[in-house]
Amino acid sequence: MTLPGRIRHVNMRQDNKVPEHSATGEGLKVSARLMAPREYEAVNDLFNRAFHKKRGMRECMWKYKTNPAGEAICVVCEHEGKIVGYIAGMPREVQVGDKIIKSYLLGDLCIEEDYRGRGLFPMILFGYLKHITTLGIAILSKRMRDTWSKLAGERFKSSAIPKMTRSINIGLADIPSIISTHLFRRNGGDSHIIKTVTFGPEYDDLWDSVSPNMPTMVIRKSRYLNWRFVEKPDNDYEIYSWVEDGRVLGYIVLTARGSEGMIGDILTVRNTHVVEGLIQQAMKFFRAKNIKKIVVYAMDEYYRGIFKKHGFAETDSGMFFSTLNATDEVDKTDKSNPEKWFITAADSDAY
Ligand SMILES: CC(C)(COP(=O)(O)OP(=O)(O)OC[C@H]1O[C@@H](n2cnc3c(N)ncnc32)[C@H](O)[C@@H]1OP(=O)(O)O)[C@@H](O)C(=O)NCCC(=O)NCCS
Repeated sequence: MTLPGRIRHVNMRQDNKVPEHSATGEGLKVSARLMAPREYEAVNDLFNRAFHKKRGMRECMWKYKTNPAGEAICVVCEHEGKIVGYIAGMPREVQVGDKIIKSYLLGDLCIEEDYRGRGLFPMILFGYLKHITTLGIAILSKRMRDTWSKLAGERFKSSAIPKMTRSINIGLADIPSIISTHLFRRNGGDSHIIKTVTFGPEYDDLWDSVSPNMPTMVIRKSRYLNWRFVEKPDNDYEIYSWVEDGRVLGYIVLTARGSEGMIGDILTVRNTHVVEGLIQQAMKFFRAKNIKKIVVYAMDEYYRGIFKKHGFAETDSGMFFSTLNATDEVDKTDKSNPEKWFITAADSDAY
């Protein structure tokens, strides 16, 4: 794929007045183009202003530059040499049947405050679409989902990501603490739950054994998992894995923030024992952190069934998962149907 340096020049709507601080005194003329490597800092500053965050350059570079699936595609919107808006497309390798497709997680869309309300958002979005040849995926709020559907029309499909919560102290009796010693025997084999600090080749084996039965999903091989959960600067993830007879049969990623706990990701062989053991480990972790409520987002019915058994109840979902087809080719397959995806909170860059 060759990426042109400049997408297009847009004359803004007639009624768009130049921002008061502008020196031109003429109609606002902006251009959208790909971000240049020297512009990471400007883009990060804009992100921090727009989202009221303090993201450091280390996290910015981790997110956009060191991703094993490739560098992010950032489309910036420029006015008189200044970046006034951008969107990032962060590559993900996605398993679709027996194929691997490069897709882009869309995020970090922002417009400089003085430039909002002038139609820069659609301009950036469509500029971005010109650069992807496959599929864009996004995890959005309801309002954003509605705005994007309006802008991108039929190319945009979305469905809700079921959210489940469980309150930790009331209602349910604790599950018998079969893993309190972190070691027990099942079917004569040794099973351990271990705290995981890095994902080794055993996790590639896990992926190889579970992936043939999984729907469309981001490929969770060790390189990706390390980047996503271990190398992310200042991350607060806690990872546990189920190991049986030397083989990893599953992992779970947890976070405790304030009084709320989140099960961010889970992947296991389809063995209820393993899933339940990891959920119990999660309970133990959250209880020790004095967490009151646990949240899990999961599209997968198998896991949802087990979570329900363990006291989780479905709530109104606040998250939407959407796919954006960049080509007709994608439309011919079912891979853009969000219902056919395996999605967890960790598929969102906000987690
Ligand atoms: C969201 C944001 C990018 C919109 O930019 P903008 O310049 O105001 O948008 P535009 O003028 O191009 O408007 C395009 C459409 O987006 C809608 N929109 C504006 N803000 C929105 C928001 N926060 N959520 C959803 N839709 C929004 C508008 O209603 C408009 O639709 P309309 O023309 O039918 O009314 C901008 O407000 C921003 O940078 N906000 C802070 C960062 C942020 O929240 N980013 C989004 C999350 S990734």
